[in-house]
Amino acid sequence: MKTLYLKAEDENTAQTAGEILRSGGLVAIPTETVYGLAANALDPGAVKKIFTAKGRPQDNPLIVHVQSPGEIPPLVEKVDERLAALAERFWPGPLTVIMKRSSLVPDEVTAGLDTVAIRMPSHPAARAVIKAAGVPLAAPSANASGRPSPTKAEHVLRDLDGKIDAVVDGGECSVGVESTVITLVTSPPALLRPGGVTPGELREVLGEITISHAVFEKLEDGEKAQSPGMKYKHYAPETRVSIIKGSFESYKKFLKAHREKICAVCFDGEGEQFDCALEYGREDDSSSQAQKIFDVLRRVDETGCKEAFVRCPSPEGVGLAVYNRLLRSAAFRVIDLDFGIPVYGLTGQTGAGKGYAGRILGQLGMAVIDTDSLAREAVEIPGVIKRLKEEFGDDIFKDGALDRGELARRAFSCEEKTRALNSITHPEITRLTAERIHTAEQSGAKAAVIDAPVLFESPLTVVCDKIICVTAPESVRIERIMQRDGISREDALTRIGAQRDEEYYKSKSDIVLINDGKTDIKQEILNRKDLI
Ligand code: TXA
Ligand code: MG
Repeated sequence: MKTLYLKAEDENTAQTAGEILRSGGLVAIPTETVYGLAANALDPGAVKKIFTAKGRPQDNPLIVHVQSPGEIPPLVEKVDERLAALAERFWPGPLTVIMKRSSLVPDEVTAGLDTVAIRMPSHPAARAVIKAAGVPLAAPSANASGRPSPTKAEHVLRDLDGKIDAVVDGGECSVGVESTVITLVTSPPALLRPGGVTPGELREVLGEITISHAVFEKLEDGEKAQSPGMKYKHYAPETRVSIIKGSFESYKKFLKAHREKICAVCFDGEGEQFDCALEYGREDDSSSQAQKIFDVLRRVDETGCKEAFVRCPSPEGVGLAVYNRLLRSAAFRVIDLDFGIPVYGLTGQTGAGKGYAGRILGQLGMAVIDTDSLAREAVEIPGVIKRLKEEFGDDIFKDGALDRGELARRAFSCEEKTRALNSITHPEITRLTAERIHTAEQSGAKAAVIDAPVLFESPLTVVCDKIICVTAPESVRIERIMQRDGISREDALTRIGAQRDEEYYKSKSDIVLINDGKTDIKQEILNRKDLI
């Protein structure tokens, strides 16, 4: 199918679009929020085509768009005064209201639910097309399912060219994130999706409202979604996205610690600090962030980076919608670099007794975080498994379980492969470590100690206020390794030879603890007033 390109300002556009819609076709139209993929809401056959074109799951209902309040009564069970109050204040505009439906609305639109979502957009082109069509229009966002929503006609064409009858180009959408969705079916009303209308504004009209926990959190497996759209992967570029909380200083430090090419998704004026950056609005202006976020999420893939780190927006006002969309595009990966307790890195050569030093620090009220176990946890994460398979071959998984020995053989065969493994696992290990530091903080630990044998090779160094390394003479280390692991002197030497030398560890550390079996290491620690 050839997709007809229509310009919103052309005289015949609304008429042409209206005819296509009346005869059961699909037209992408601009709205003030995002572009919508419209079909006649009262024509089940036309509505079905939307699901096919987008690849949308069948159980995700659509929003019905009307052009005047008079079109609503036939679509719902009854119009109550709360709807009238909302319409008066926010329509036309970026608000969708869910009510009990009438039998006029086809099951295809509501995905079989007994409710219907209704919205009256303010964009003149959208209003003109609805009017010309003469029927209410069912319209989800006009992206391929799972992709960022389109805020420009070119986004629509990139996803749907050849799959829809026409697109009306009305320029860039002014709000930039989809409408706020509120349901009046529950008591009190519940906000299901944040958008251009803020919770504060809704409370001014409705009094008490609740905010669905799906706005902030991933739904549990099998949990029923109040809004089916909330359970799907969303807004996701190919590039792995993580949100970074904390100051710009800590963000910058954290990004600079990565050796592979990464994309900084930051606020206006910050991008020049990075090799590859996309700016998504002013730090103090949520509306400008909302307007740009989807375009930026699409452009992330064009940078060729495997990894993108997004500065966390303030989740206030419209910012709540920006944060909510980013959470989904990041599959809920948030790394919070603002720690309320000191963070120490603990490292050392094999056999130096890092574990022993860790136990003593633990006895002194610090929480010791074992990154080896977090590395094991990281390779259980579905996204990581997928990338490991891509990089090292499907057969590193045998009967569904990772063959760790085989992965190690392939990953440590050359430097390039080691780097590939690190770039897949390090961001997840960092995220898990940051989570553990926050847990330690909440449980009253005096400090967090990151126990990491390869600390200097990972971005974790940047979260450490100080780095402690434990050293011991080589002869002592050889004996310890032989005893601990029951291996020969020769094997112990091979292991030692695989690591950097003592000078390297010392030169990169703030505190050096000597653990030669003679020095009292506990006393050494107690003497360090900068540590305790
Ligand atoms: O701004 C917008 O709302 C855009 C423009 C085109 O109007 N449309 C849009 O549609 O974002 P869509 O389909 O991408 O998102 C609709 C959301 C989904 O999360 C869906 O699950 C939810 O609204 N929804 C629709 N009908 C519902 C219902 N009856 N009950 C609960 N949630 C519903
Ligand atoms: Mg959508």
